[in-house]
Amino acid sequence: MRISMEKRVSVVGLGYVGLCTAVFFAAKGYKVKVSSQSLEKVEQINAGVPPFYEPQLDNLLKTVVQEDNLVAVLGREEAILDSDVTFISVGTPSLPDGSIDLRFVCESATEIGKALRKKAEYHLIVVKSTVVPGTTENLVKPTVEKNSGKIAGDDFGLVMSPEFLREGSAVYDTFNPDRIVIGEFDEHSGAVFEKLCKLAYGDEVPVLRVNCPTAEMIKYASNAFLATKVSFINEIANICELVPGIDVVKVAKGMGLDPRIGSRFLNAGVGWGGSCFPKDVKALIAFSRKEEFKPLLLESVVRVNLEQARHVVDLMKEGLGKLEGRKIAVLGLSFKPNTNDMREAPSARIIDLLCKEGAVIHAYDPMAMKDAKEILGDKVNFSQTVNECVEGADCCLIVTEWDEFKKLGPDDFVKLMKVPFILDGRRIYDPAKFLDKTKYKAIGLGNGNRG
Ligand code: UGA
Repeated sequence: MRISMEKRVSVVGLGYVGLCTAVFFAAKGYKVKVSSQSLEKVEQINAGVPPFYEPQLDNLLKTVVQEDNLVAVLGREEAILDSDVTFISVGTPSLPDGSIDLRFVCESATEIGKALRKKAEYHLIVVKSTVVPGTTENLVKPTVEKNSGKIAGDDFGLVMSPEFLREGSAVYDTFNPDRIVIGEFDEHSGAVFEKLCKLAYGDEVPVLRVNCPTAEMIKYASNAFLATKVSFINEIANICELVPGIDVVKVAKGMGLDPRIGSRFLNAGVGWGGSCFPKDVKALIAFSRKEEFKPLLLESVVRVNLEQARHVVDLMKEGLGKLEGRKIAVLGLSFKPNTNDMREAPSARIIDLLCKEGAVIHAYDPMAMKDAKEILGDKVNFSQTVNECVEGADCCLIVTEWDEFKKLGPDDFVKLMKVPFILDGRRIYDPAKFLDKTKYKAIGLGNGNRG
């Protein structure tokens, strides 16, 4: 049952996690086969083109495809049989009640099992998808065993190793992980995977070996904690606004200097979104409730986040009065910069509320316009440039902190807008500079405050 360590890897599921993992191992000289059920995706990847935007990914993918280290194939079997290790990185979306949908994990485990029935040698399975505690041992293991006729721990290895990459810096994070968590079904599986990681990532990265459910929980607890941190600072920001002279940016700086708190993820704003925090916090809540535990803090974290959209609209109304018929320029639509991802983007929540108030929305995003059109449709007039978006507007709301917007100065708004009212939802501008020339309001900035 020793693994050959021939450096052959397969990846099932080609979202951010799957494709970045695949590109990483290919860049380290491993022979990587990725599989998809879509011919279009296979052809695209084999042409070196990522199916989504992510900084640095296109160049790297092109290189590893040209070097023949990464090949996409249709269907799972060929990829699995041509490798020693298979990563499962399929999506785990939400069901309507917020609980996790494990359909794709189950399908992958079934197909891996069927393929392993045809293989004599030891094979390691690594679950990378975010799954609720118990999934690897209670769903993946029995499904693979049933379909392969083999025994976990003896004939194949099984580990759960959560991924902590962030969209927008997915390639950097994949190549430079803070830690590697290995949830092992058995000691040998853990040892094989640790060896693989040490070879690929080097000896410097801290490795934590635990059991599978603990690894699964580490991922949820990490995302839930980060979401809590952001909801916390957003609530503090809203309180700061009540007191002239307080600025949440400085409050967060002062808090962050305490190493017990840390400065990261204390940027107050319009709320959190994306494909992970909302889905994972909801899944953890649903999981707890199913086990008859009431996760009161996590439920508040979600509520505070959803309320933040209402708070943004209230700030706008404080500055403009009635919003009916007013032209509102929304700068930034994606859930954060450097991605075209619109999943659970705060922009959509805010725009919904603005529409209900009768506002006329014009919006611009450097990257997410196509995806935004699918979600927002005719609620929004899409502009081709910042200038077109802002021209004649009664208020400009900054929703996503793209670099392109950070470069703008007060004069850029004054010369184009009907009323130069800037609502800075991401704290990208210096209040002192903007208050001199514009009507400037910002999340967490007490009225009349110059920052
Ligand atoms: C998040 C985690 O940060 C990753 O560690 C994890 O691997 C990933 O989820 C996942 O589970 O796949 P991601 O969703 O890409 O990564 O984005 P983040 O950078 O965490 O931002 C999430 C949201 O929080 C964004 O809407 C962002 O604007 C918001 N945020 C973040 C703030 O409003 N303030 C902050 O200080 C930080």
